[in-house]
Amino acid sequence: MDATHMRALAGAIEAMPDAFVLIEPIPTDGEQRRVLFVNRAFTRMTGYSAEEVIGQSPYMTTGPDSDPSALEIIRNARQAMQSCRVEILKYRKDRTTFWAELDLLPVYDEHQTLLNWVLFYREVTERRAQQLRRIETERLAAIGTLAAGVAHEMNNPLAYALMNIGFIEEELPALISATNHPATERWTELAGTLAEIRHGVTRVAQIVRDIRTFSRVDGSPGGRCRVPVLVERAVQMARAGMPECARIATHYDETPEVEADPGRLAQVFLHVVLNALDAIPPEKKADAGVEIHAFNRDGQVVVEIRDDGVGIAPEIMPRIFDPFFTTKEVGKGSGLGLPISHGIVRAVGGTMEVESRVGVGTTVRVTLPGAGTIVAETSSPIRRDTRAPPSLRLRILVIDDEPMIGRALKRALGQFDDIVVCQSGEDALDLLEASREYHLILCDLSMPGMTGASLFEQVRLRWPPLAERVVIMTGGASSDTTREFLEQSSVPRLDKPLDLGAIREILDRIRASYPQLPG
Ligand SMILES: Nc1ncnc2c1ncn2[C@@H]1O[C@H](COP(=O)(O)OP(=O)(O)OP(=O)(O)O)[C@@H](O)[C@H]1O
Ligand SMILES: [Mg+2]
Repeated sequence: MDATHMRALAGAIEAMPDAFVLIEPIPTDGEQRRVLFVNRAFTRMTGYSAEEVIGQSPYMTTGPDSDPSALEIIRNARQAMQSCRVEILKYRKDRTTFWAELDLLPVYDEHQTLLNWVLFYREVTERRAQQLRRIETERLAAIGTLAAGVAHEMNNPLAYALMNIGFIEEELPALISATNHPATERWTELAGTLAEIRHGVTRVAQIVRDIRTFSRVDGSPGGRCRVPVLVERAVQMARAGMPECARIATHYDETPEVEADPGRLAQVFLHVVLNALDAIPPEKKADAGVEIHAFNRDGQVVVEIRDDGVGIAPEIMPRIFDPFFTTKEVGKGSGLGLPISHGIVRAVGGTMEVESRVGVGTTVRVTLPGAGTIVAETSSPIRRDTRAPPSLRLRILVIDDEPMIGRALKRALGQFDDIVVCQSGEDALDLLEASREYHLILCDLSMPGMTGASLFEQVRLRWPPLAERVVIMTGGASSDTTREFLEQSSVPRLDKPLDLGAIREILDRIRASYPQLPG
């Protein structure tokens, strides 16, 4: 190779975007091989000039966090006189770090004598971060799918457990007063135990619902909602769940309506209010509290939830929206409240901001795009459960492949209404063929054989008016077709685990609209 060629080659090495390091073949003195040459890219990447590294060990750009297993691969390759490629954390002169993809190659002459070792490397910090993010996203998606599957399976047992608890709760007082039993303490204890069972099962049901929302298995019908009504509902629910809670002050200005699924949006406010209440230590409950203010800012609805709680430490602030991140004790928090809420708010084009000072308190600001119409607030009526025997017996057809669901519904509602139960869509069609005298058809969505969706379709084709009496019970879609049905159909639906109160509300509405027995 002539001098011109040599110069061209040297120029090329200097111009390379990769760092290039030439290392002596065997140590000339001591243990370490020394660096013979580095190019400009090396200086750019590491901050070391050629003078600073030539004659030094090539390991001066590694450090305590450089993965020992990557260093081991390099050492083994050198001993075996082979090439290798590793990703390794490199240290710059200022001891900041970057990830490099590194190639080590032995260079031989025509007699197979080792001339030098050559190192090439390029920075891959961003690529690695992207890879890690992708892995994390995939991991979360996998967890989500698994969790949604588990949640789905838990729905039926939870549904009948809750309905049966509801039944016992309603029956117990009458039974107690009827027995005249002297050991009233035992009865009281029994009622207390029942309340604890309800508490536990409701908590599991809440987690199951959260996981389903988080995994977005359910289609969400949109609608116009009045944010203060939803906030108020959330406040009532939070209070009901925490009888000993700190005071909650609310202030609602006139705000526009918002385009969103009201159930989901109410869940956002419930999660945030519960977090605020949780943040107030028990000894401060008397003089601390939560303040909620909903107002209109340039056509957007802003809800600020401020608490005098413990605050959020700056170092955990970046993680509070991560799924499953919680600082609460086992059994108290699942770490899903904020990520779920964030997902719901983002889905309707809104934002969530959190400001906090340790020892002072936290403000969560939910901003939602308004849908135009401004509505003045009046306080929302609170539902009362009046259990006077209704004037009209309803005939209800229940279709669920889980026989316990039918049994529980029959037990809970059978006193005032006639419940006909069957376990498949096919059986339901046979029953309907024989008689269509039903005020309500409660049908499970996911069933082996004919699904609730196809049963609904059959009913709609054969007996159109009857289709209006169908309510779908769903524990979330378990297949693509049922998901499509949930997203596209406007059939009323009840979420499992079923809430007896919600079913009774439906029955009351039907009673109000059917003044006499059919047929
Ligand atoms: N108002 C607040 N004050 C103090 N810390 C808060 C507040 N809101 C959230 N946090 C912190 O953020 C963490 C995550 O909240 P998130 O609602 O996602 O989960 P969680 O409340 O722990 O459990 P879950 O809501 O699922 O029952 C909480 O554990 C808590 O450390
Ligand atoms: Mg929470």
